[in-house]
Amino acid sequence: MKELVMIIRPEKLEAIKKILDEINCGGMTISTVMGCGTQKGVAEQGVNEIKGLKTTINLLPKIRVEVVVDDRNVEELILKVREICATNHVGDGKIFVRNIEEAIRIRTGERGNKAL
Ligand SMILES: Nc1ncnc2c1ncn2[C@@H]1O[C@H](COP(=O)(O)OP(=O)(O)OP(=O)(O)O)[C@@H](O)[C@H]1O
Ligand SMILES: [Mg+2]
Repeated sequence: MKELVMIIRPEKLEAIKKILDEINCGGMTISTVMGCGTQKGVAEQGVNEIKGLKTTINLLPKIRVEVVVDDRNVEELILKVREICATNHVGDGKIFVRNIEEAIRIRTGERGNKAL
């Protein structure tokens, strides 16, 4: 199993949910976050400060999508997410992939891929 942590533009959320549904992922966790990449938030248009918080770098609103999938779904998911999220402009976001050792569905005790 792998976890994909995807930081994307807020306007791409609905499209990402559709993709995740298409690959029959068992669930997802979505959060609204603030972040910056290599441009430190300055080269992009948008909200460039959090109220009351002074920083030398600017943070922009992003959506964080966490999804744990079967190893076999990882490359397809990366391809599809890039198809939807790549606009050729800075700030499109990133996908981080990490190994997941175990998953347990609390209700049934199922483990591994069966628990996803
Ligand atoms: N190294 C990182 N660690 C953690 N979060 C990151 C990292 N890089 C990017 N992010 C998150 O992803 C969001 C989008 O990053 P972004 O797409 O601007 O990356 P980038 O490296 O600057 O690429 P680009 O040059 O295409 O803009 C950031 O706002 C931040 O939330
Ligand atoms: Mg950037």
